[in-house]
Amino acid sequence: MSIKSKYIIKDNINQAMTMHADYYTNQDMLDIAIEKIFSSSWQLASYANCFDNNNIIPIDFLENTINEPLLLTKEKDKIRCISNVCTHRGHLVCNENKKSKSLVCRYHGRVFNLDGKFKKAPGFENAQNFPSRKENLNEIKVKEWNNFIFISLNNTINNLSILDDIKLRLNKFPFNKIKYNEKLTDIFEIDTHWAMYCENYLEGFHVPFVHKGLSSEIDNHSYETKILENGVLQYAKDLTGADIYGYYYWIFPNIMLNFYAWGLSVNIVEPISINRTKVKFIYFPIDDSSSSKEIKNLIQVELEDQDVVKSVHRGIQSRYYERGRYSPKYEKGVHYFHQLLSKSI
Ligand code: FES
Ligand SMILES: [Fe+2]
Repeated sequence: MSIKSKYIIKDNINQAMTMHADYYTNQDMLDIAIEKIFSSSWQLASYANCFDNNNIIPIDFLENTINEPLLLTKEKDKIRCISNVCTHRGHLVCNENKKSKSLVCRYHGRVFNLDGKFKKAPGFENAQNFPSRKENLNEIKVKEWNNFIFISLNNTINNLSILDDIKLRLNKFPFNKIKYNEKLTDIFEIDTHWAMYCENYLEGFHVPFVHKGLSSEIDNHSYETKILENGVLQYAKDLTGADIYGYYYWIFPNIMLNFYAWGLSVNIVEPISINRTKVKFIYFPIDDSSSSKEIKNLIQVELEDQDVVKSVHRGIQSRYYERGRYSPKYEKGVHYFHQLLSKSI
């Protein structure tokens, strides 16, 4: 069997087998995902209010794996993303949030504009054919959406068309009133594979079994899963049956936007290794004071989810487990995710 055929996911969910267990234990598969999925898709880099006090923000793109040093800059209203690596001998141009009209490398004083263009370099007066375009800092593509800043290194996977669905479906959501609350940010490191964390998110099948608290607040029969382009939407009604309890949008491969009556919670999933995953929980309440109980409940649900994904991570290493079958009724989202993974191999 070729490596590729082992990871094929049949299109027909009624017949398909789930992702082969080796996908989660094979380092080559993680390397492929990092290069062909994470580097190629749009990733959430920051929020527009990161520029409230500064106009230069250093970020590390996927800090445990790709770890690419980048800078977000803002000049008038234009937000850009540029490489943070000096084109002279490779020192990082900027290590901290700053307010400035230009970037000065502290190693030998090379100066760049905020769009990354080379400005001047002391000591290079006699250098020939200098400066060439190679002295500029590389520019990375940026997309802004409702105060969110997305960037993409290779820009070959269109994983943001889902934002159009959000715009239509949630046209009343008060994006202009939500505010990033830094104090509430949680970062978890979990002993599991990043894809396993995502696939648990992609089905509500486990909710009545794993989340007794949550299950008593939603109408489990109203749970819906919709497949979108490079994304999945799930939603469920609350017990009154009149309102939606939450809209759960997953953007391939690793971004989750959860819309509630109290505001928005965002989860970003990043691989650390085949055995470890980082998940950032970021909150944007509409009104700080009314969201604390809801956020506490979310963390309870999160800890319940972490328990199951850790258990699955142990289970798939067993010599007695290879792959399973999908519930055609409840696991459409997981099936779609596995198909996307499979296509990248
Ligand atoms: S490495 Fe930046 S000026 Fe030399
Ligand atoms: Fe869950």
